Amino acid sequence: MNQHKPIKKAVFPVAGLGTRFLPATKAIPKELLPIVDRPLIQYAVDEAREAGIEQIIFVTGRGKTAIVEHFDVAYELEATMKERGKDMSVLDPTRATPGDIITVRQQVPLGLGHAIWCARAIVGDEPFAILLPDELMVGEPGCMKQMVDAYNEVGGNLVSVLEVPQEDVSSYGVIAPGASISDTLTEVTGLVEKPPVAEAPSNKIISGRYILQPEVMRTLENQGKGAGGEIQLTDAMARMIGNQPFHAVTFAGNRYDCGSKTGFVEATLALALQREDMGEEVRAIAERLLAQ
Ligand code: G1P
Repeated sequence: MNQHKPIKKAVFPVAGLGTRFLPATKAIPKELLPIVDRPLIQYAVDEAREAGIEQIIFVTGRGKTAIVEHFDVAYELEATMKERGKDMSVLDPTRATPGDIITVRQQVPLGLGHAIWCARAIVGDEPFAILLPDELMVGEPGCMKQMVDAYNEVGGNLVSVLEVPQEDVSSYGVIAPGASISDTLTEVTGLVEKPPVAEAPSNKIISGRYILQPEVMRTLENQGKGAGGEIQLTDAMARMIGNQPFHAVTFAGNRYDCGSKTGFVEATLALALQREDMGEEVRAIAERLLAQ
């Protein structure tokens, strides 16, 4: 069934300044802000690994080295924990296979398309995934696994989509849907970044997960500025439609927009409520607070 080149590499753009979360993000990368007890970036990396991704490529910038530290062996911490007989399994998700984490720098913030293009030499001539860690996608299986499953059927390029109220579309990349392949898979006939509400081709927005063919790097090479004066990934993808298959996968699961403060609080509450070790207690706290 799987005649398509496997997806083994994923790019995580993590160079953003995180200004919306200042002052919390003055010295700490926003990707390391925790939802309960796992940093945001950990959720995205776990999601990628579940989907079979082996190589993690961080497009990073100044002040972001703590992200790489997070996935390194903390020798002193481990030695101390061992000595004290502590359970070290909490650190398991932070362990990377040697050589599997690669960083490249985006020296200037010229947009998401530019950030992805910065990883071109590492991506090489293989199809690859992109995960935007701000978008926390919770599902079983995870969003990237759902996309890889769809990719194994149709190949080419895919984006994950979900429906939002029409008045919210201008904050996102929006797809023009074509023919339906199944309940969750549709062709994409157009893509537009942050359209005015009246011009949006649908209310299906790109939710921060992509599987793309390496040709997108060459398209990005000469991609001019788009919405917000930035080099937009959406514009480069739009130019590939017609030359290569392009599909959208409707994600079955919950999405939390952790790029916004309210979305971040929602994610924290939702995930805490789902936890076996604290869900009940958190529910009692929430009910007490709401009754005040
Ligand atoms: C980016 C993409 C956009 C996508 C969004 C998802 O926008 O450009 O197409 O819908 O992420 O969060 P940004 O949030 O960086 O403005």
